[in-house]
Amino acid sequence: MSDALNYLLKARPDALSHYFAFLKDAGKHLDPKTRNLISVITKVHAQTERGLRQYLGRALREGCTPMEVLDALLMAFPALGLAKIIWAVDIILDMNIPGFAPEALTSLGQWHDVMASAEVKDDEVTRTECDDRGLFVYRSKKTYQVFDSRCPHQSTDIPQLALKGSTLTCPKHGWEFDAKSGDCIKKGNSPLKRIESKVVKGRLLAFW
Ligand code: FES
Repeated sequence: MSDALNYLLKARPDALSHYFAFLKDAGKHLDPKTRNLISVITKVHAQTERGLRQYLGRALREGCTPMEVLDALLMAFPALGLAKIIWAVDIILDMNIPGFAPEALTSLGQWHDVMASAEVKDDEVTRTECDDRGLFVYRSKKTYQVFDSRCPHQSTDIPQLALKGSTLTCPKHGWEFDAKSGDCIKKGNSPLKRIESKVVKGRLLAFW
């Protein structure tokens, strides 16, 4: 949320609550993907970079695929025009989201060999890289959790240095996460993206 909206929420909570209630109610008959794609398009139309980064992250987290995002942008061409679409794609490329790579767009996803399962110590969070993707891995006995290292706020790739015990603090705006559960525990409102995983023959595999 912008600083100005935060300010107005404090200064005029009565007025702003109606605005947010309206926004919440306005999309209630749409499925989450459609709602998220419309939000992304509105941010492109208004050319608010911070909003685009945030709503794109949310759309991807809530199940939109990169190809669906591109389709939505292209379908909105009559309203957006080419210049705004190019503006948005430049920002998306700058976010360096693996799923937007041309070869990844047509891939249906696959299992990636992350590491030997025994390399992850029990009750510890480990950061690793796999096929150009940063991951945080947490193990509790035989259960493994794998999270994307990119912040759900604006896709900052969160480094190893940001990890203190099991608390992860994004260096860009300070959102804090419990890297055991992925939950956002301070400042923000969205969890880390969980990635499907399994252990096969002593190897931890992750699907994307
Ligand atoms: S990008 Fe804003 S808190 Fe991570």
